[in-house]
Amino acid sequence: MRVLITGATGLIGNEIVKRCHTSGIAVNYLTTRRTKISADANYKGFFWNPENNEINVNCIKGVDAIIHLAGASISKRWTTDYKKLIFDSRVKSTELLFNTLKNNEHNVTHMISGSAIGIYPKSLTNYYSEEETQVNSSFLGDVVKQWETSVVSFSSLNITVSKIRIGLVLSNKGGALPQMAKPVRYGFGANMGAGKQWVSWIHLGDLSKLFLYVLENKLEGVYNGVAPNPATNKEFNKAIAKQLKKPLILPNIPKFMMRLLLGEMHMLLFESQRVSSKKIENSGFNFKYFNLNSALESLL
Ligand SMILES: NC(=O)c1ccc[n+]([C@@H]2O[C@H](COP(=O)([O-])OP(=O)(O)OC[C@H]3O[C@@H](n4cnc5c(N)ncnc54)[C@H](OP(=O)(O)O)[C@@H]3O)[C@@H](O)[C@H]2O)c1
Repeated sequence: MRVLITGATGLIGNEIVKRCHTSGIAVNYLTTRRTKISADANYKGFFWNPENNEINVNCIKGVDAIIHLAGASISKRWTTDYKKLIFDSRVKSTELLFNTLKNNEHNVTHMISGSAIGIYPKSLTNYYSEEETQVNSSFLGDVVKQWETSVVSFSSLNITVSKIRIGLVLSNKGGALPQMAKPVRYGFGANMGAGKQWVSWIHLGDLSKLFLYVLENKLEGVYNGVAPNPATNKEFNKAIAKQLKKPLILPNIPKFMMRLLLGEMHMLLFESQRVSSKKIENSGFNFKYFNLNSALESLL
């Protein structure tokens, strides 16, 4: 089997590439950085620039499935121009992949796209399954909705479509955890607001395993990519502090302060989505990291 991965050079993509190679799956990948192009038979890079509709169509040669993860980081200040990049890098890139398959011969039968739990409305009480139809009314909710909608079009090409709604990915190589752990490590850890907001997390190892599981079992439809036990922001900080053997002594940080500091993206720290992993578990998937403490123990 050969898969084409977009975003293969990123935190999640890189881990999926490793897992593909362990499972004997060859990888083609698309990158916007020419310096990242490798010519290895099992890891062949191709240039694309979704902003300009530019793609090396050789990328689909011999490919059976696509894993689509490309997207500009959401943890940079959301200026008007940057918001456009966040949107285009996900939606325009999906459209470019669609047109590439539509206009060229190929053997692709499965499209697995990344998505995000940010599609679910903010709530302290709801427990979200994939059946939820309400969409978060924020900028990110809109991006994720449009991203998912653009992915659905692949079914018109007789391609099985899967969408993984990814939660907060825990890794020691990047992403949110090192940023969350840093203030706690130096004794400045504090809850965001009342700390009651839900954080639906997943260990990077489990997430990459989940993508391969969906690929190898050709599971169709939407699946939440979160661990079975979400935690509140307060529980999260407490678990990090426990792991690092540091006290949490500072008062909670009010929302307005983070808004002044970060602008609109401060909302990322106050979002609250308690998301269920039941659907993927019921399909037979086994998590290695069920609880936050064991996940943090392996990472910090
Ligand atoms: N990490 C999380 O906690 C999390 C949670 C929910 C959802 N997600 C979503 O999952 C996907 C992968 O996340 P990640 O954490 O692995 O992100 P990441 O480390 O920032 O990697 C993103 C990848 O996207 C590509 N990219 C960046 N800007 C691009 C642009 N303008 N046009 C096309 N490609 C671009 C980059 O590849 P090149 O530089 O090689 O082109 C990069 O490897 C993202 O869409 C993200 O929103 C992540």
